[in-house]
Amino acid sequence: MPWSRLRTMKRVDDFRLRLGKKELIPIMTGGMGVDISTAELSLVAARLGGIGHISDAMVPTVSDRRFKTGFVKEKQKKYKYNVANRDKSVVQFDLVRLAEATKMHVGRTMEAKKGDGLIFINTMEKLTMGSPRDTLRVRLSAAMDGGIDGITLSAGLHLGSLALIEDHPRFRDVKFGIIVSSLRALTLFLRKSARLNRLPDYIIVEGPLAGGHLGFGMDWVQYDLKTIVDEIHRYLKQESLNIPLIPAGGIFTGTDAVEFLEAGAAAVQVATRFTVTKECGLPDKVKQEYFRANEEDIEVNLISPTGYPMRMLKNSPAIGAGIRPNCEAYGYLLDGSGNCAYIEAYNRELDKHPDEENISVMDKTCLCTHMRNFDCWTCGHYTYRLKDTSRRLADGSYQLLTAEHVFKDYLYSTEHRIALPPA
Ligand SMILES: Cc1cc2nc3c(=O)[nH]c(=O)nc-3n(C[C@H](O)[C@H](O)[C@H](O)COP(=O)(O)O)c2cc1C
Repeated sequence: MPWSRLRTMKRVDDFRLRLGKKELIPIMTGGMGVDISTAELSLVAARLGGIGHISDAMVPTVSDRRFKTGFVKEKQKKYKYNVANRDKSVVQFDLVRLAEATKMHVGRTMEAKKGDGLIFINTMEKLTMGSPRDTLRVRLSAAMDGGIDGITLSAGLHLGSLALIEDHPRFRDVKFGIIVSSLRALTLFLRKSARLNRLPDYIIVEGPLAGGHLGFGMDWVQYDLKTIVDEIHRYLKQESLNIPLIPAGGIFTGTDAVEFLEAGAAAVQVATRFTVTKECGLPDKVKQEYFRANEEDIEVNLISPTGYPMRMLKNSPAIGAGIRPNCEAYGYLLDGSGNCAYIEAYNRELDKHPDEENISVMDKTCLCTHMRNFDCWTCGHYTYRLKDTSRRLADGSYQLLTAEHVFKDYLYSTEHRIALPPA
């Protein structure tokens, strides 16, 4: 049936996601990096019977904030001598500490879990951390040691990721999924995972309207989530592969979700609507920026050193900032040779303006520092509709929502209606 004619009074609650032996509410909250998807947010989704993601992005930093550990200080102290050096190849993560931080973040979250849902962790391959294979192996193993229910592989093709952990005792028990934006990326991954006899348990298909990094070029406008989902759906059928498909990106109302579920999707992954909830990790002031944004205030640009386009608010403090690279403390985007595109851009500007105290770098940003400080306001395309999901208060600000309210609005809404929170 053509999408446009799929008119329905069904609600998301009329559907269930089957994952192995489990039956779940077919709503997954996305893993928004550097603690935008907090443990608290994921715990609400799990308590209500869905799947909540946390993220392992910059997990030592997240642990320091959450548990008052001192991982970042320790690393910074160790490499202090290198701060003025342009060559960052000496900077390495202590793998024991990385495992400790991951296990703590995951373990404490799992201990707090109530209800029938699940908690997954989003693991981005692009966080190469100066030693891509070793650090990824540690991140994945430690998340499994910490008791995570599932791991979503993202921001990369992950062609070698599963092989890194095939000997882990929980390798066949933890759910694995991958985020793809094209059939081509999926087939590459499936070929590799077939060799390990470990097909993914779910596939998230992320379209061009998502937040964070995009799996498209700057021609993202020409792509459409429904078309990609249909194509992948047909392919899986043809190959007799029964793997749940989970679309993501721009699913703003419960009815948007129902349209995908009726067309054969197993669940949906959503994120933007949760950025203005109390449980979301963004500072309250930043949540108001998301509420206030209009369509023309949002752009997709190339300032992320990962090379992927990224969507963000145009007034993000990260844009045009010219801070010194902070790799001794962070360094999550250093490749195996100690390079990051921001370091190059920064040094180029520094050489051009040797006498200036404050330089500006327009083409790249120090993503680690700015994500850590919530100064890179990455967001989904429909962020400009958030103002319609809440109430304006007397002082002009917007009332923050609860994650439970947003989750239930997805679950029960019909005809694209959005329930406002109780005043
Ligand atoms: C603020 C924000 C940060 C995000 N960060 C990440 C991330 O770190 N890793 C990732 O794989 N996806 C990230 N995403 C993508 C979401 O997990 C999700 O797939 C997508 O945004 C869903 O579309 P929606 O926001 O329109 O609901 C982010 C999304 C938002 C809005």
